[in-house]
Amino acid sequence: MPYAHITGWGMHLPARILTNEDLAKMVDTSDQWIRERTGIRERRIASEHESSASLGAEASVQALRMAGISPTDLDLIICSSSSPEHIFPSTASIIQDKIGATRAGAFDLSAACSGFIYAINMGAQSIRSGSVKSVLVIGAETLSRFTNYKDRNTCILFGDGAGAFVLQASEKPGGVMGAVMHSDGSGADFLTIPAGGSKRPIDEVGLHTGQHFIHMDGKEVFRFATRVMAQSTLEAVTKSGWKLEDLKMVVPHQANIRIIEAAARGLKMPMEKFFVNLERYGNTSTASIPIATTEAVQVGKIRPGDKLVFVGFGAGLTWAALAAEWTGPLEPQTTRRIDPALYQPWARVRSFFRRVLRALEGIFFGRQA
Ligand code: COA
Repeated sequence: MPYAHITGWGMHLPARILTNEDLAKMVDTSDQWIRERTGIRERRIASEHESSASLGAEASVQALRMAGISPTDLDLIICSSSSPEHIFPSTASIIQDKIGATRAGAFDLSAACSGFIYAINMGAQSIRSGSVKSVLVIGAETLSRFTNYKDRNTCILFGDGAGAFVLQASEKPGGVMGAVMHSDGSGADFLTIPAGGSKRPIDEVGLHTGQHFIHMDGKEVFRFATRVMAQSTLEAVTKSGWKLEDLKMVVPHQANIRIIEAAARGLKMPMEKFFVNLERYGNTSTASIPIATTEAVQVGKIRPGDKLVFVGFGAGLTWAALAAEWTGPLEPQTTRRIDPALYQPWARVRSFFRRVLRALEGIFFGRQA
């Protein structure tokens, strides 16, 4: 049975920075309050030209480059997002087209901030079953589009960004070792965007009352998060046949420093073993774990052979943890390859001509069909 290794990683963040001081000009808050209660100093906000798919595509190209494979090598793309481009089509399909992954199947996965862990696990299980060899897993968010910048309870927390992993099959033991996924839908109302789905399509009343924005009971979410982070980390470690002492690093969902500190206390682990970068990006939801992992690798805190746990929680309520031994690229990257970014202009041309061809088919053959 093949193992599923994490062989590529990448991140992409919008350039625009929204600081706590900027927010203090918009709502009744302060830099001091936000830093003390959350640990966040600033977050990134997408420009009008950026979207979850564009950020996700950039992160994907980096991850492919790191793994040393081409978009056309991919069998499957899973995109986790709470701010997808549309209800349908999937953001994964749009990214598939953007990066030129012409052979890959693509679908979105919705498990809010726990989504990236669910997605790695789904990708890894597809590899373990032998049905695919290369999977791209993306976490991409533009939650600023669903944030009410008049609501100080929520607008201080969220930021935009994307991260991606490449998973590949190898007979060499390692990679994803064990995972747990949980859900408790009885807490669905604690964190939700009430309108815009089939239960409540957006109407004028909904628009006026801000039902298309994120609504959150911060206290309930905080209580739930501090309960499940330590517990699910322990479950994933036990499932992998490891001990907590084996862990080199825990990469937690970057929501609030106090939640991460509570998890560290619960596990009796030092904070140095928890990678934290939320002060610069805020809560980027499902993108926070791949962004944090990419930075941890960049600064040398994660190296091949390290035993890691990714752990997260979010709307649903959902929570999940996954234990993995860090791999890095499978092959030493000695052979010259076409840069994955160079597939993008070609993919745009290809996509354009496919649309033209489809339109022409409609004009010339449409009536006969
Ligand atoms: N600036 C200043 N004051 C604020 C504020 C802000 N941005 N937001 C809330 N307050 C006020 C409240 O109105 C309240 O005032 P009151 O005592 O007069 O009623 C006071 O600060 C305390 O509010 P409280 O909600 O108890 O703060 P808290 O310590 O629980 O922190 C959160 C609030 C949102 C930071 C915290 O509950 C949290 O992080 N929850 C989890 C949220 C989360 O992670 N969501 C994403 C999940 S993926």
